[in-house]
Amino acid sequence: MLMPKRTKWRKQMRGKIRGNATRGTEVSFGEYGLQAMEPGWLPARVIEAGRVAASRNAPEAKFWIRVFPHKSVSKKPAETRMGTGKGDIEYWAAVAKPGTVIYEIDQPAVIEFKTVTLARVGATPGAEVRAVGVDLRQDWPMALRDAGFQPSRPTAWIDEGLMIGYLPGDAQDRLLGQMTELSAPGSRLAADHLRADSPSIGSLIGEVAHTWKQNGFDVDFGTLTYPQGRSNAEDYLASHGWFVNAHTITDLLAAAEVSTDSLDTSTQFHGAIDYLVATRR
Ligand SMILES: C[S@@+](CC[C@H](N)C(=O)[O-])C[C@H]1O[C@@H](n2cnc3c(N)ncnc32)[C@H](O)[C@@H]1O
Repeated sequence: MLMPKRTKWRKQMRGKIRGNATRGTEVSFGEYGLQAMEPGWLPARVIEAGRVAASRNAPEAKFWIRVFPHKSVSKKPAETRMGTGKGDIEYWAAVAKPGTVIYEIDQPAVIEFKTVTLARVGATPGAEVRAVGVDLRQDWPMALRDAGFQPSRPTAWIDEGLMIGYLPGDAQDRLLGQMTELSAPGSRLAADHLRADSPSIGSLIGEVAHTWKQNGFDVDFGTLTYPQGRSNAEDYLASHGWFVNAHTITDLLAAAEVSTDSLDTSTQFHGAIDYLVATRR
């Protein structure tokens, strides 16, 4: 039966399927195709049953399976107590789902570099990706809308490795307000941010860069950052219509079953950054 060889996370959230698929919607191989008319999960055993039925009924025919059961569906046994974690994986399913559009915003030169490099190695994204080359200190919401972004639909924002000092304080505060404005209810946000009571990222990276230098990598990202002097991102979101959960590096490593023994997790070092997960009310 079909199932992924390796997955980053063993168990997944159930999620909701919204809208229509944009990829794999045409018969690209052969003459006939089966098309999902409504959203749902196709368990691996159903895909396998289809394959068996087709090969029995038309042994000479060639056919192509164009879905793959990437999604693990777990189930708890009946009458288990609440709070004991997710159940065991029951089956793997292909999500018959709408296409997802990913917008990636970065500096134009970074977008250009990534696009050329990925094309050179023949890496093609699994979803539709629209790269938006714009400086986040400028009018990025306009550039995002011009690329087709629809603020009326809920968005999943991933804001990684940015609110740790890469933007001046006023630009970071503006960014939080702009994301909030563009977020329909139900939008989600995952972001890391430097806690207000922490040393600047410049001084933190300076420490790490010292070790990198000993290993021949002579770049100090700290020189690219702006000093502290901005709103606390967690407080900002919580007071502007978001439910926010903050996690420390200790929480994340514990969830991934990684030991923190060799790490200084104090707020003056690796614990200086918090990891936020928020939902727009
Ligand atoms: C830690 S990286 C995150 C990369 C991204 N999560 C990824 O996986 O490719 C931070 C990114 O922020 C971008 N960045 C920093 N300042 C920016 C600005 N003013 N405008 C747009 N992007 C910026 C950097 O170019 C860098 O790619």
